[in-house]
Amino acid sequence: PSLDLVFNLNEFEVIASKTLPKAVYAYYSSAADDEVSYRQNHHSFHGIFFKPKILVDVTDIDLSSKILGEIFQIPFYISATALCGLGNPSGGEIDIVKACGSTDVLVPQMISTFSSNSLDEITAAKVNEKQTQWFQLYVNGDRKITHDLIKKAEHLGLKALFVTVDAPQAGNREKDLRFKFSCANKKGPNIMKGSQTANGTSGALSKLIDTALTWKDIENFRTLTSLPIILKGVQRIDDIIKAAEIGCKGVVLSNHGGRQLDFSVPPIEVLAESVPVLKSRGLDKNFDILIDGGIRRGTDILKALCLGASGIGIASPFLYANSVYGQAGVEKAFDIIINELKLSMRLLGVTKISELTPDLLDLKGLYDR
Ligand code: FNR
Repeated sequence: PSLDLVFNLNEFEVIASKTLPKAVYAYYSSAADDEVSYRQNHHSFHGIFFKPKILVDVTDIDLSSKILGEIFQIPFYISATALCGLGNPSGGEIDIVKACGSTDVLVPQMISTFSSNSLDEITAAKVNEKQTQWFQLYVNGDRKITHDLIKKAEHLGLKALFVTVDAPQAGNREKDLRFKFSCANKKGPNIMKGSQTANGTSGALSKLIDTALTWKDIENFRTLTSLPIILKGVQRIDDIIKAAEIGCKGVVLSNHGGRQLDFSVPPIEVLAESVPVLKSRGLDKNFDILIDGGIRRGTDILKALCLGASGIGIASPFLYANSVYGQAGVEKAFDIIINELKLSMRLLGVTKISELTPDLLDLKGLYDR
């Protein structure tokens, strides 16, 4: 269908499910085991309701937001997805880079270690010198490979290092496992050397991730780079506190879209519980709480902002938009989400992101599963 007929982010997946090669859609869409966390991530947002304010002048809506110390015109970012080239063989990650720099607002983009295009290509494709790219790091068993990647990301001007900590091994994604991955007939990640075969694309990628990653490595990365380090995939208050204490600049509350441990808690619940604890300990200064997982609507974003998140990650909708429509699809997805945000803020009676506070929410249904 024409992009004019796409009205919300969910529709990109529906269209992709009908048009992408089966193996590609299986890798993109599969989550772990019975996919309970995958569904619950989104469903949890349905347990939160708004308490709108009335009679506020909502003519001008300002979406500007500070994420990791930088001001953006929007509160969301594109989270890392591996292998954008499977769904969009000609555009790969590059069409997303172009979309992020071409519209009125610049959207920050997190680049996966397992991107189809190389980091050189991705950084060279920027269309606006002010657009922000971050690097997502999967740590290799050979630390020299990882250290070189960190240096390269820093050298190429990526602005932050997101170390993924919820994936020592790929989760059990059965839809994906039904298809054999072979580098010979598919575009593998740019860092994969030689040809590989495995059950499932996740299986092939998993071989490039070290199961022995620990807190010591994170401290070591801090000595290697001056980039801010953010842990992606944090799911417990004590780990958030530890990340803050060892000098990380933030965490992404995430269960990897339910693709890792099934029955890991929905990130929005972790957010609701942890922000008050961090505030009471004074750990919320210069430390960002980001969140991703199942965020599909402007209202989802507003709920997370009310609960104290400073940046909102969205991954798969952009991946599907890019796969079916390339750059134009990603730009359309931005438009949709920005319009939903503005409309919902007007109806909620707020005009700025800083006015989004917990008292605007009714959380009674948050824990109804
Ligand atoms: C991901 N995600 C991911 N995360 C990461 O740290 N590195 C990666 O390479 C990938 N690759 C990847 C591929 C695909 C196909 C998907 C769907 C997801 C996880 C992603 O960044 C995010 O945490 C989750 O997808 C949750 O967000 P959404 O998709 O619910 O908006």
